[in-house]
Amino acid sequence: MTTKFSPPNDMNGLVRIFVRDPHECTAMQLADFKALILAGGEVIQEGLDDRIRSAVRLVFLSVGCCLSGIAALKRPLESYRRGVADKSGIALSEEDYPFELGWVFVMPSARGRRFSLDLTSAAVAAASTSGVFATSRTDNAGMHATLARCGFLPAGKPYPSGRGKHQLQLFLRKTIETSPADASAAERSGTTP
Ligand SMILES: CC(C)(COP(=O)(O)OP(=O)(O)OC[C@H]1O[C@@H](n2cnc3c(N)ncnc32)[C@H](O)[C@@H]1OP(=O)(O)O)[C@@H](O)C(=O)NCCC(=O)NCCS
Repeated sequence: MTTKFSPPNDMNGLVRIFVRDPHECTAMQLADFKALILAGGEVIQEGLDDRIRSAVRLVFLSVGCCLSGIAALKRPLESYRRGVADKSGIALSEEDYPFELGWVFVMPSARGRRFSLDLTSAAVAAASTSGVFATSRTDNAGMHATLARCGFLPAGKPYPSGRGKHQLQLFLRKTIETSPADASAAERSGTTP
């Protein structure tokens, strides 16, 4: 299922966001998504194709015909989840935090237009009311502002990244408690991932 919408800051009708199940993406869309992940750096290339295909949702933001930003909602491997929990000092149970926000990247020429908020909001919306975690470099003030706007709070202690010399901070968006009536409405509207 692909969801398509225009973000609120799209003044000229040129900006489009697509939220796609990776299994419904074309090979070209997957290749474009991977190219932007690699442009952002800070990823281990080995196994990246498989990790992209196993994401819950891929978010694409285009301006005109150009792909200008990406984000993803992922279901992290248990070993990765345990590593983040150990290093940050925060228990990250799958029950409380089944999803991870990741691969948020905006092309340099498209920055400063709050696209990171559009991308993050779209990825997190795919988690419905479930808990989501994210990690971000401690010096990434722009991303921290976006995470805060999307309901994430910093948690635990910063820890050294496995790549480069920087430190990472864990952010958590807790499960949103809903009444049974809210839950069945979400199920009817198809927002449950
Ligand atoms: C991080 C990134 C996605 C942010 O996107 P952006 O287009 O630069 O920033 P946005 O226009 O969406 O602005 C997001 C927020 O950051 C603020 N911001 C932007 N640049 C900033 C800077 N240099 N310093 C501090 N705050 C900044 C904005 O004011 C906005 O906050 P606000 O809503 O409170 O005003 C983008 O810079 C990027 O792709 N960086 C490389 C990859 C990366 O770091 N990804 C995040 C991985 S967790």
